[in-house]
Amino acid sequence: AIDIRTLRNTTGYITLDSGYMNTGSCSSEITFLDGEQGILNYRGYGINELAEKCSFVEVAYLLLIGELPTREQLDHFRALLSRFALIHEDMIHFFDHFPPNAPPMAILSTMVNTLHNFYPEMSSDSDEELLIIAARLISKIRTIAAFSYKKSEGHPLIYPRYDLSYCGNFLNMMFDKPVKPYVVQPEVVATVNKLLILHADHEQNCSTSTVRLVGSAGVNVYTSISAGISALWGPLHGGANQAVIEMLEAIHQDNNDFEKYIKKAKDRNDPFRLTGFGHRVYKTFDPRATIIKQACDQTLQALNVDDPLLDIAKELEDIVRNDDYFVSRNLYPNVDFYSGIIYRAMGIPTNMFTVMFAMGRLPGWISHWSEMTYGSDNSRIGRPRQVYTGYKKREFVPIHERN
Ligand code: ACO
Repeated sequence: AIDIRTLRNTTGYITLDSGYMNTGSCSSEITFLDGEQGILNYRGYGINELAEKCSFVEVAYLLLIGELPTREQLDHFRALLSRFALIHEDMIHFFDHFPPNAPPMAILSTMVNTLHNFYPEMSSDSDEELLIIAARLISKIRTIAAFSYKKSEGHPLIYPRYDLSYCGNFLNMMFDKPVKPYVVQPEVVATVNKLLILHADHEQNCSTSTVRLVGSAGVNVYTSISAGISALWGPLHGGANQAVIEMLEAIHQDNNDFEKYIKKAKDRNDPFRLTGFGHRVYKTFDPRATIIKQACDQTLQALNVDDPLLDIAKELEDIVRNDDYFVSRNLYPNVDFYSGIIYRAMGIPTNMFTVMFAMGRLPGWISHWSEMTYGSDNSRIGRPRQVYTGYKKREFVPIHERN
């Protein structure tokens, strides 16, 4: 049920739309989403085709510039990504001062905000300037993510290599060890590419809207993106991929007592929800979930991993799809339901899952920041109104008369 109340105001009407269920905050040319039919297109290209045929870097270029790159343009963007792969040596000392159990999403958002202190603020008025801003962020976030993992393990940092692809480089920085060199497997690289593409944009979701809202105050791009990372961290948003694995593990430890969790999810007095199900916009299958489910089977097979959590996930999905409570509310698996099982199989620790999501979402955030800042529908600070329900006018009571 949508609670829409309209109130007369001096400048017109205020519409109360809690959770912005039906409020368009901007016009955008970046991503088309039809939640009734399960369609997702970036710049007019279907997500299935992009996930099948493109690299993440190619899709990042498409989102940013609006066109698929030629071979030459792609090589240029790749060269920029290589050029900006390192972070300032002084930034590396920051890692020493986080507590050992600091959540990687907190580290990521702090470090991305800090980039502003080390790198110049630029306008993105031309495609080349936008590519430089984007390459700097997309490349450095990968290095920050891998370094924060290495620091948390107490292992020496592995620096980026110039002979590896974007995703291959990330995996190498994560898993290479001086005593045990990591072999980059093409199947794993292909899966990471696919996952990052599927996460690359999703129109005005919570984190992207945050990037736009914060950016609309005129603050720099790093700070706007850092705010988006903080929003993504929430378990109702990107943090769901970590929460799904924790839920599946709990079901596993409870001897696969599905009934208990289904009952809890249906109980309106219990805040528990089946994480990985439901979506604000999709009222049918999330097209990304379909692709990820398939990639999950393929990757586990390629890596020869037999994970009981995959069987639990599939059984849970079956139960949910045949249960009236979930069917009547259009609750289908979302993008986060199967992605964590793939990350686990690759050896990525659970608390890094949402960081992977952030790496994928970066081209979308930057594209929206740029569209908001330089597009034709720009210039106003985001400033929603409210419907005030508090006291009207009260008599002031001096402190000695209060009881
Ligand atoms: N488990 C059980 N019940 C659910 C779930 C769920 N996962 N999701 C929604 N419902 C129920 C609600 O209780 C509500 O029931 P009611 O009508 O009886 O009150 C109804 O379905 C509608 O739910 P809302 O909360 O109004 O839907 P909303 O669009 O606000 O929320 C959301 C969407 C946050 C994704 C929700 O479905 C949810 O919490 N899912 C679990 C968390 C999750 O997986 N988040 C990741 C989303 S994808 C992403 O952000 C990348």
